Amino acid sequence: MKAIIPKGFGPIVRLAVGERAKPTPGKNDVLVKVHAASVNPKDWKLNLSLARAAPPVGRRFVPPLFGDDLAGEVVEVGANVAGFEIGDRVYGMDMRLRTATLAEYAVIDQRRIARMPANLSFTEAAAVPLAGQTALQGLRKGRAVAGRSVLIIGASGGVGTYAVQIAKQLGCHVTGVCSTRNIERVRALGADAVIDYTAGDYRQRTHKPAGVFDLVFDVTSFETPASCAALLAPEGHFVSTMGHTRGMAGTLLARRRNASLVRVESWTADLETIGDWMATGAVRSIIDSTFGLAETQQAYDRSRTGRARGKIVIEVVPEG
Ligand SMILES: NC(=O)c1ccc[n+]([C@@H]2O[C@H](COP(=O)([O-])OP(=O)(O)OC[C@H]3O[C@@H](n4cnc5c(N)ncnc54)[C@H](OP(=O)(O)O)[C@@H]3O)[C@@H](O)[C@H]2O)c1
Repeated sequence: MKAIIPKGFGPIVRLAVGERAKPTPGKNDVLVKVHAASVNPKDWKLNLSLARAAPPVGRRFVPPLFGDDLAGEVVEVGANVAGFEIGDRVYGMDMRLRTATLAEYAVIDQRRIARMPANLSFTEAAAVPLAGQTALQGLRKGRAVAGRSVLIIGASGGVGTYAVQIAKQLGCHVTGVCSTRNIERVRALGADAVIDYTAGDYRQRTHKPAGVFDLVFDVTSFETPASCAALLAPEGHFVSTMGHTRGMAGTLLARRRNASLVRVESWTADLETIGDWMATGAVRSIIDSTFGLAETQQAYDRSRTGRARGKIVIEVVPEG
């Protein structure tokens, strides 16, 4: 089968289509004919950090294959698989290297997938699992329940576009942070208010009547509890996709504040929760761009600009 095979290492890794044996599902896996996969910053960040940390050692750990998210059709099921059948249209994510979704076929554990909402294309479904579940799980960590005020920093990106929509579904008052060119887009996602980060340092100012938020969800990975201290209510939560792990001050402040890091995992129940909202159109995938499998390198180059508006998707089987 065709699959993306990385060549080189770190910043000079090149992603090209090569040939590789079709994987065999284990007892708890399904084999999926992949229709679409999506691009996440994690893939190229992992490569760069391994390269920076210890090139000679790191080289041994270069992911031999790429891709965590998939949407496609079940073509084989393992002996212990219950609840999925050949022909089911599924979507899901697994970060373990055994699941490499930038390929014509991928194996994935049954606990990491769910049936696709019927109204979604494979492209729309493949965008969801990693970014959508990061949004859901991060909001949950930050106790985003009805009536709470939530600030989402990075509202126009892969995770942020889901976070704004999901926070609205949870009944929160949502403020999104983005740059000028994305203001209207973030409003269209349902944000009650939008802050333009290019208009000044919003972290130093007050915005709500009280000037504080019950939850600051930083999906850019740039911020820390210290940098956002002025934005947090006394009992407010700070949740990050990475930021507060940086620096001693951040770590100490994280202990004092309700600060946590989201580390996404894919679960059938969480995919179904998001799928229910998507089935009614309440939550949508915002697609920045689509690429064919042979254009995977361009897709990653686009991701590395940090300017994606929504998700970048690889259509392994071109959408009809
Ligand atoms: N821990 C986890 O489990 C987990 C899971 C998923 C993602 N992540 C991490 O979370 C981060 C975001 O992922 P993603 O997929 O959402 O990335 P992404 O789609 O590449 O994010 C791009 C978006 O970020 C916006 N942005 C850039 N700088 C900004 C700033 N200073 N303030 C506000 N918005 C800004 C950009 O808008 P402009 O062009 O308008 O600036 C763009 O729309 C990455 O670092 C990723 O590695 C972690």
